Amino acid sequence: MKSNIQMKNSYQKLEDNFGISRAVQLKMINDLHTEMSSGLIGQKSSLRMMPSFAEPPKGNETGKYLSLDFGGTNLRIAATDLMGNGNVVEICAEKKVIDKNVQAGSKENLFDFIAESLSDFIVKNDMNNSDDKLLGFTFSFPFEQLGLTSGKLLSWTKGFSVGGVVGEDVVKLLNESIAKKGIKNIKIVSLVNDTVGALAYGRYKNSGCDMSVILGTGTNAAYIEDVSKIKKYALGENLVGKMMVNTEWGNFSKLPRTAYDKKLDEATENSGLNMMEKMVSAKYVAELVKIIFSDFVDRNIFSVKIDKQEQAASLFAAENISEVVGDNSPELKFVEKELKSLGMNGTNLKDRILFKKICDDVMERSSQIIATMIVGVVLWMDPKFDKSHVVAIDGTLYEKASGYKKSLMKNVDNLLGNNAGKIALILSKDGSGMGAAITGATRGGVSDAKISRKLSAI
Ligand code: GLC
Repeated sequence: MKSNIQMKNSYQKLEDNFGISRAVQLKMINDLHTEMSSGLIGQKSSLRMMPSFAEPPKGNETGKYLSLDFGGTNLRIAATDLMGNGNVVEICAEKKVIDKNVQAGSKENLFDFIAESLSDFIVKNDMNNSDDKLLGFTFSFPFEQLGLTSGKLLSWTKGFSVGGVVGEDVVKLLNESIAKKGIKNIKIVSLVNDTVGALAYGRYKNSGCDMSVILGTGTNAAYIEDVSKIKKYALGENLVGKMMVNTEWGNFSKLPRTAYDKKLDEATENSGLNMMEKMVSAKYVAELVKIIFSDFVDRNIFSVKIDKQEQAASLFAAENISEVVGDNSPELKFVEKELKSLGMNGTNLKDRILFKKICDDVMERSSQIIATMIVGVVLWMDPKFDKSHVVAIDGTLYEKASGYKKSLMKNVDNLLGNNAGKIALILSKDGSGMGAAITGATRGGVSDAKISRKLSAI
């Protein structure tokens, strides 16, 4: 068992490794701009900077749409009515967990699961015999958009490993399963990444919104770019205007990583990729805490040992970190409970304080990284902060993790200094799905016909 001093030293070392200084933040922003710039012109970059081929909505789009949001953890289907004037009414909605068999099964299994869920939703809500049902499809993975209603999957992320889908058009695969299932009158009118959906929704409701962030199972962001700066595609001469761009920032690689981050990455399906996502998002923060915890246990820094079997059986996830971070009881009762679930019984208050600090540090670093990335993207759009910006954020980590919203805002404002207050962060719940419907309704602007790919540049 270690002394108090050794416990303190170990913790101090962790805090030093996980802290992100202002100098590091400024360097990250610099690197972010270099990577964004390279990505936009089709040069090697850790940021894919995927054009969505969709212009930002105006807020006056109307019509009834279905939206199908296939994320990292859930499938959400909804029927929405776009009322114009920035109003969206959700008529009915349903959420299903995407289970492990789907995440790692065959492509037929995956798209049949989506089609079947859609079919059930339609029958349940008595829409079977209605005319054309316009559907916006949100697919929360990196894909190369070939037009507003077609896109090829580039790689799986967030632990998915379904065979045979990379390189395929996901709309085509979905249409095949819809046809197999015999669902009548479905017309897919848009394919969007969840970031683009969240941005479309944020913009529909608020014309000052020019960026979106997803902070859930994974993380990513989209923003509004001048079409003239997107050089990776030949978008046609004299084509001016704005387009929503999916950065795929989860793959940003210019970050100081610790030995713990490396260990976590080695155990993932997409090792070597999406480094930033693995330091930040809900799917990974709990793994990171567990890795640090095990290391501290192995080095006897806690006053008690653990039952390894109990630890292996633990379902410790981001929600549990949230409980630890939010525990302000004098004896840290919730922390004690979480430690028990990790196989550590008989803890004293110091053990609990130490575990809480581990969780606090992991979450604080997540928030600092995201704050830096947000400020970086806003500075890219508006280098002198000539105006204020609204960032629409969707995802459980932002919505539900104890203290996360507050900490993110604080970190953004700290970084902004004199410009503090110029970035507003707003929760845009389920915006990623509704935004697909809105994008389908937007049309016009940059239409598929105007797109010719400059193959040599990609
Ligand atoms: C992953 C995906 C990305 C998605 C994000 C949030 O990073 O690659 O496309 O937007 O998760 O769901």
